[in-house]
Amino acid sequence: MLILGIETSCDETSAAVVEDGRLIRSNVIRSQEDLHERYGGVVPELASRRHVTAIIPTIDVALQDAGVAKDEIDAIAVTEGPGLAGSLLVGLNTAKSLSVAWGVPLIPVNHLEGHIYSNWLTDQENDPTFQPPRFPCVCLIVSGGHTELVLIRDHGHYDVLGRTIDDAAGEAFDKGARILRLGFPGGPAIQRAATDGKMGHHTFPRAWLGETYDFSFSGLKTALLREVEKYRREPLRPKKVVSTEPFPVHEPPEYAPNMPTADIAADFQDAIIDVLAQKTAKAAQEHRAAMVILAGGVASNSLLRKRLDSLLSAPLRYPEPLLCTDNGAMIAGAGYYLYQRGIRASCDLDISPQLPLSTETSLA
Ligand code: KG4
Ligand code: ZN
Repeated sequence: MLILGIETSCDETSAAVVEDGRLIRSNVIRSQEDLHERYGGVVPELASRRHVTAIIPTIDVALQDAGVAKDEIDAIAVTEGPGLAGSLLVGLNTAKSLSVAWGVPLIPVNHLEGHIYSNWLTDQENDPTFQPPRFPCVCLIVSGGHTELVLIRDHGHYDVLGRTIDDAAGEAFDKGARILRLGFPGGPAIQRAATDGKMGHHTFPRAWLGETYDFSFSGLKTALLREVEKYRREPLRPKKVVSTEPFPVHEPPEYAPNMPTADIAADFQDAIIDVLAQKTAKAAQEHRAAMVILAGGVASNSLLRKRLDSLLSAPLRYPEPLLCTDNGAMIAGAGYYLYQRGIRASCDLDISPQLPLSTETSLA
């Protein structure tokens, strides 16, 4: 079965063709990083307007790359939420129109469920080493907008064990990189800077939130501002730092002279990863997970993978970097399993910007 997956929930316009929820026939991702970089974060109106111009060419290339004609597509899967309203609307409207025009079913996909299913994808037809995740598994979804720890008992059965109560892990990286003037997106920039840094010279708080599996990263931003202040002649005004005005993303010499940026980045990264890894390992042990899987942009972080590997007794699995970021293949992949369970969108499907991850009532 060939599914066309369409993803436009944030700042990537993406379309992909996936066979049987597993084999990636094409996966075209048009990133908007160039557009948002100078703002140090995604500007929603600019994002949706870029989706409008990019969506049709992206779908065209996805079909071409897959070598399939539009009449060979069996269904269309599209992200209905969560995400930015204006961005979601572009993908959903396009998908709805194509499903009517081509006479194929439309499958609504939760973006978070899409991230989870990036672990079921491969681009090789005969890969003897390919092992899909085993249940029960614990999945840590860590992206720019989400931090959720999920127990997956079977396809579609999700128990959200915990989530962030304020900033997402990727958001903490992005805000941290703004303060350190390292550029956008912040996660890769901080990871890069941290490779040359020495840990243990700067102290950042860890919010354990008792025995819960919830997370909190907003305190880190204030702690980081305080560290950076030590190296500045002028105090930083937090309001200015988090404004959406364009600003020079790379550190001007006068910003914080003699600041040991790499060392600070290393300790800052460690503070985020430490909590993510320890809570994930604890959940895996408590729920006797057969496997632990990672998803979302922050899943590319090498310290997170290394730390988890050392803490876990269950095997760890994560998607290749291209599949960690937002992409259409993960939506098509999740769409396949939803289709198998009989999920179809009706013609009045709307976007759902706050959509939570939950088990369908028919499966509960
Ligand atoms: O999943 P994603 O592409 O988009 C969202 O749905 O948000 O995740 C993007 C996020 C950004 O916050 C980015 O800074 C973070 O993932 N990220 C990383 C790394 N690569 C991307 N964070 C830490 N380490 C990385 N290597
Ligand atoms: Zn995402």
